[in-house]
Amino acid sequence: MSEVRFDGRVAIVTGAGNGLGRSHALSFAARGAKVVVNDLGGSTFGEGADKSAADLVVDEIRSAGGEAVANYDSVTDGANIVQTALDAFGRVDIVVNNAGILRDVSFHKMVEADWDLVYEVHVKGAFAVTHAAWPLLREQQYGRVIFTASAAGIYGNFGQVNYAMAKLGQHGMSQALAQEGRKRNILVNTIAPMAGSRMTETVLPPEIVEQLKPRYVTPLVLKLCDEKSDEWGGLYEVGAGWFGKLRWERAQGVGLPLGKGISPEDVNAAWDKITDFTDATHPRSVNQGMMALMGNLQNI
Ligand code: NAI
Repeated sequence: MSEVRFDGRVAIVTGAGNGLGRSHALSFAARGAKVVVNDLGGSTFGEGADKSAADLVVDEIRSAGGEAVANYDSVTDGANIVQTALDAFGRVDIVVNNAGILRDVSFHKMVEADWDLVYEVHVKGAFAVTHAAWPLLREQQYGRVIFTASAAGIYGNFGQVNYAMAKLGQHGMSQALAQEGRKRNILVNTIAPMAGSRMTETVLPPEIVEQLKPRYVTPLVLKLCDEKSDEWGGLYEVGAGWFGKLRWERAQGVGLPLGKGISPEDVNAAWDKITDFTDATHPRSVNQGMMALMGNLQNI
């Protein structure tokens, strides 16, 4: 199996001053990529700014003989981040949307600012960076884009309504974008990581935080950004060195006869079949999903 290398490639990693982003940035650089280390340097709560977060990672990359430049903009200023890549390295090949914050609070106590800020950083920020890079990727007919979701978005999690929305929002964005990019060899995928970081140190015991190294997640990001990769539109759970792909699953379902009209009681009577995952199907597109529905139009 050939070595995964990024020589000549330029990678933007957002939120690369800490945790997972730092690990991704160091690894891309160690394998030949020129890296834009973006980090606003704020708190996990989304407050403040500090250039040292990005600077320290740039220093680390340079001391190891790699090439990197810092960018301190918020991801919501995506165009500035892409401009930093163009000014320093003249191109962009890889975008890793990783920056993130938390505003955990149960829904009844959530204020609008908790919702808005989490949306701004995760969804609008990932949009802004990717949207600014997209014309370049299209033009050169090459790109690799990673979005960062979360198990909290996939499964839901108490006190994380805003975060779950934002994280699955990134996956929704990624699934549609993967279809738009594929023909031009722009491959888009999503990871749902688990790692010890300042973000998880408030919810996980210290010994688990210590064990869950971000570097156990990063190899998947590099694999998906490899120029030899042909994976697109995927969602992967990854952490502690464990890797697994997820997909949608749909019950065989039931088509009720249309002739007499359908009552809630008819739906009740069919409930076992509607919710039975025996022989479940795994549609991969809107068209595949619609086939069963359209087929029932003949069921008069
Ligand atoms: P972290 O807090 O260690 O790193 C996040 C970085 O993003 C920080 O350096 C922060 O300054 C930066 N950042 C925050 N807002 C920014 C903005 N507006 N613009 C630019 N940079 C900004 O967190 P961690 O754990 O490394 O998380 C990385 C990503 O992985 C996040 O998107 C997070 O939601 C996601 N994630 C992490 C999990 C974990 O177990 N650590 C679990 C699921 C998802």
